[in-house]
Amino acid sequence: MSVFLDHASTTPVRPKALEAYLEALAHLGNPSSVHAHGRETRELLEQAREKLAKASHCDKSEVIFTSGGTESNNHAIKGIYWQRQLDRPRKYIISALTEHHALIDPIEWLEKHEGAVPLWLPVARDGQPDLVVYEDWLAKYGDEIALVSLMWVNNETGAIWDIPGIAGLAKQYGIPVHSDAVAAFGHIEISFQDSGLAAMSISGHKLGAPIGVGALLVARSQKPISIIHGGGQERGLRSGTMNYPHALSLAIAAELAVGDMAEREARLEGLRDSLEASLLAAIPQAQKTISGPRIGHTSSFVLPGVQSDSVLFLFDQHGISVSAGSACQAGVLGASHVLLAMGYSEAESSAVIRVTLGHSTTQQDIDLFTSSIAEVYATALKAGLNR
Ligand SMILES: Cc1ncc(COP(=O)(O)O)c(C=O)c1O
Repeated sequence: MSVFLDHASTTPVRPKALEAYLEALAHLGNPSSVHAHGRETRELLEQAREKLAKASHCDKSEVIFTSGGTESNNHAIKGIYWQRQLDRPRKYIISALTEHHALIDPIEWLEKHEGAVPLWLPVARDGQPDLVVYEDWLAKYGDEIALVSLMWVNNETGAIWDIPGIAGLAKQYGIPVHSDAVAAFGHIEISFQDSGLAAMSISGHKLGAPIGVGALLVARSQKPISIIHGGGQERGLRSGTMNYPHALSLAIAAELAVGDMAEREARLEGLRDSLEASLLAAIPQAQKTISGPRIGHTSSFVLPGVQSDSVLFLFDQHGISVSAGSACQAGVLGASHVLLAMGYSEAESSAVIRVTLGHSTTQQDIDLFTSSIAEVYATALKAGLNR
């Protein structure tokens, strides 16, 4: 019996999204070709654009299909930064070190190669950003700020930020705001048109579409500089033959995720709460990583005295997949950069466990997890003492 409780890393493809993908794949035609075959696949692509626009509340011309969250973040950060240098130099980028590396790294790349100056917003242990500092920076640096980029939901802790409020404050200074909504879209109510955002990143495999597809929503008022060049597809922002099967599966998954969101998230929140109660009963010294507003399907704890990698390995031996935070490329766990940025110590940030539930999670998954906690923790503690 295997249990998957790492839905923030990726979540099962919804059967209807898979069906749509396979059906679309059977159609032949380059969506940019003018002949009947091309027009047919263009029609599928435009259906996908319309569906995704409806699910995210934006205009269909604002949907740019990409390969996923990482690519969307790179287009937004670099594209808007360069766009904002056209009439005068603006070197500042406001963001936070609690963001995903798919956002921090493009900003650090701009710092190293283009002279950008990141302003990393302090984030408190409750999981919330310091909006007093944010307002001070807006007032102090004003028109020298190229953009603000802050995530809607943190993928490690589940913290929800008031992105429309953050965008509203920046608007007073005419500063464009991007949000990485990869952990948010399809899980909480989001309306791009009401958010005040200039751009927003979406990833398909976090909401039931296959890995390798995503979107960047770009407000019509924005003209980011393209980071890739070629045939000029997708408003000239994302050249390359349009991937209509993937786009369609993303749109169907988004439609379904938004459609059953209220009922699903309420169910998952109930399961999450019972999981947390069992975890705290087994390990009373465990600490929830945040106390502020958070998403219903994410649970993140510091387990004092252990190392995350031991805990993950021991759960894995019980057939249970959980994580410590972002799935990293090397598969080697260090301290969580998110917790470090929130002021947790190195030891605390290396002792974190993240359990994330998804549309396929059942009560039985939770029961199997909770029945292993005490043993896993006791063994991990011993392993820690022997290191
Ligand atoms: C918050 C966040 N942003 C961006 C990404 C990257 O998305 P993708 O895997 O689609 O490139 C992830 C993936 O874990 C994420 O959690």
